[in-house]
This record gives sequence, C-alpha cells and structure tokens, in this order.
Amino acid sequence: MLNVKKFNHKHLLGLEYLSKEEIEIILETAKPFKKLFTRSIKKVPTLRGRSVALLFYEPSTRTRTSFELAAKRLSADTVNITVQTSSVQKGESLIDTAKTLEAMKADFIVIRHFYSGAPHILAQNVSSSIINAGDGFHEHPTQGLLDIFTIKEKKGKIKDLKVVILGDILHSRVARSNLWGLTKLQANVVLCGPPTLIPPEIEKIFPNVEIEYNLEKAIKNADVINILRVQFERQLEHLFPSVREYSLLYGMNKERLKIAKDDVLILHPGPMNRGIEITTDVADSLNSVINQQVTNGVAIRMAVLYLLSLNTTSTKL
Ligand code: CP
Repeated sequence: MLNVKKFNHKHLLGLEYLSKEEIEIILETAKPFKKLFTRSIKKVPTLRGRSVALLFYEPSTRTRTSFELAAKRLSADTVNITVQTSSVQKGESLIDTAKTLEAMKADFIVIRHFYSGAPHILAQNVSSSIINAGDGFHEHPTQGLLDIFTIKEKKGKIKDLKVVILGDILHSRVARSNLWGLTKLQANVVLCGPPTLIPPEIEKIFPNVEIEYNLEKAIKNADVINILRVQFERQLEHLFPSVREYSLLYGMNKERLKIAKDDVLILHPGPMNRGIEITTDVADSLNSVINQQVTNGVAIRMAVLYLLSLNTTSTKL
C-alpha cells in the first residue's frame, strides 16, 4: 500500500539523499500519471494555482520540455527563464536570480546548472522548492528515476538485474544518479568505459559495484545496458586517443548486442551521438527503450512535483 506521507522532502537534490522506500514511492506514484497519457485530456487539477520556474543554465531538450509538460499536466503555471536573454548576462548571481523568482512566488524552481551543487545552494537560500535538473558532474535525479522506472516497467523488478552503465562515467551526472538509485534497489551494477573515464574513488563510494574495462566482458549476460553520451562539451579530447578509437572499443553495435541477453534493454539518456557511442541499428532496435524513457520522464516528473508539493505550503498573500 502506497503511503505518500512517508515521502517528506521539500527539495529533490539527488537520489543519494532518498531512501529505497522513497524511491519506490516516486516510481509507484508515476504509474497512474502515466495512465493519463492515453486519455484525450491528459490533465489533472492537482497543482492548480502553483507555479514552476524552469531555470536552465545549460542546453536541454528532453528535461526542460518534460518538466514543462509535467507541470502543465498537473495544471501548474510554468515560466521559462532563458539564461541567454536574462539578467544573468548582466552579471546577476545565481542566488539573486533565484531570489527574484522567489519574490515572484515561484513555488518550484527547476534548475540545471554546470556547477555541481548549484541546486543545493538554492535550497539553502530561497524558500521555493528546488528540483535538480542536472548539476555539473553530480546528479540528474529525475533521469535516474525515469531510467529505473523504465527498467522496472519492462523487467518487473530491479533487484538482481545485471545493469551495465557504459561510457563516460567520470563526467556523467546520469551515471551517478543511476548508481545511487540502482544500488539502493539492489541491482548488480557494472561500470564499463575507458580507464581514464572511470573515477577511482567510485569503488570506495559504491563497494558492491563491479568495474570492467573490457566491453565484451562487461555486457556478457547483461539485462540492461545504459549507454552514456560522449560529452564533447566537457573537453574529453585528452582522455581518449580519438573518437574513432572510442567507438571501436566502447561503441555499442549489433554484433556486440548479441553478447548480452536476447531481451537486453538498451537505454540512452539522450541526446545520442549516433555512430559514436551507439549505432543507429542498436538505437532503433527492438531492444531499445530510448523513446519509452522520454515518455516515462514526464510521468516521473509529475510524480516528483506532486510528492514535493505535499511538503510545501503554497505561497500565500
Ligand atoms: N537526458 C537529458 O538530460 O537530456 P537533455 O539534455 O536534452 O535535457
């Protein structure tokens, strides 16, 4: 029996800070929201009168649109702050920008920022509920949740599944949120990528996680392979010899797919570099659940907004 009262967070800063039970509450709460998507009117009045500000300091297609749709489907008002045309360009600090949104009575601030810890700073400085939409190399909690939701929807469980996270672990907030969530739900997680892209301290933080540098060994009998994007914007050039070599050693292609289980799920957070970390025939294969991840992301974000709203009082005059 789902007891949403056991979820008592005002902010969502990372899966590191949630218990197994709290993660399960979010996953269960997302299910009825997903059912809404099959109706002609995909809207409920749950957050009527509440407002959600989307404050993105880095580019985004999926996360920003998904949060906006999630908020609108809950009947909240949304506002997009485009950093490139905002007073951030005049030198306004992150805290002052957030305080401005707080002064306008934004109930939620969804923030994506290139600095790890930026959402934590806002949570300490403004009264709005803060949702981390990706901070630097740290966490991308709603991506981790939607990945786990998609795996559970397809496989019926998380416990004891072999889940391979493949690629640039070092710079990946998606990998970190997956690591926290999957290990709390007792999956068998294997990290695979070039040695230069797997931080050594990861073994201390996650002692039960396996590290395997050889792709063929890592994906043997895998139930799930979550392929990370090569993050060219984070200046990876010096960390592996060439894109061609990366693709040869760590790119997922149809031949390699045969090594995993027949019903292996292929996940990718997007945006994809087709032909680099994943070939088109894998991305568009029957094993791929990449588009389902995007659909599920809206339901997960509705669940997160709803659950956080239970622990905030709507701003009153
Ligand atoms: N997965 C993800 O964060 O995608 P966007 O950068 O498009 O939001």
